[in-house]
Amino acid sequence: MKFFIDTANLAQIKEAHELGILDGVTTNPSLMAKEGIRGEEAITKHYKDICDLVDGDISAEVLSTDFATIIEEGKKLADIHPNIVVKVPMIKDGIKAIKWFTDNGIRTNCTLVFSAGQAILAAKAGAAYVSPFIGRIDDSGWDGVQLIEQIVQIFSIQGYKTEVLAASIRNPNHIIQCAAAGADICTCPLESILGLLKHPLTDIGLAKFLEDAKKM
Ligand code: E4P
Repeated sequence: MKFFIDTANLAQIKEAHELGILDGVTTNPSLMAKEGIRGEEAITKHYKDICDLVDGDISAEVLSTDFATIIEEGKKLADIHPNIVVKVPMIKDGIKAIKWFTDNGIRTNCTLVFSAGQAILAAKAGAAYVSPFIGRIDDSGWDGVQLIEQIVQIFSIQGYKTEVLAASIRNPNHIIQCAAAGADICTCPLESILGLLKHPLTDIGLAKFLEDAKKM
């Protein structure tokens, strides 16, 4: 399973990259706004900065919802860097746009996916990635990991090339469950990635080894 970081914060991206396990980055308008990125020029510069930091796929989301403007915006985003993947919402014009981008050699990440039916449509349209939001599904009282399992199974049976990118990760256990469910990628906040490192027995064991090392 590939690891993406789900943030637009350059310091966090750098920290995850320095761990040596980072394969890509996902952003969304909320994450960009959180970093104070405003206006076309600043947005373009920020995506360039991310691409300079990480040699992997970087999802950049369109802000429009009608076909013509999604295409116009997506083309500009794709021109920023070859690693940019245009993130398109799961709406009717979004699916039309994903098909257009596929036919014109631009890779897409279909976002805001909450059902297997939506994932099938995105795959049929040729999306490179489909992003089921598992944390938000859990928040609504449903089972996000179960959806990942279902989509992975359907894509395998149907031979779809679209990769399953588990998004809206809330904790380290989500990452483990997504790996077990066969997700191709997990996009995670830095905190959840670092959470994978932690185990109290590791801390206790290391403290003892360091103490005994003084006697060596
Ligand atoms: C990533 O592609 C999504 O935009 C993101 O994971 C959503 O996460 P959230 O539900 O924590 O906002």
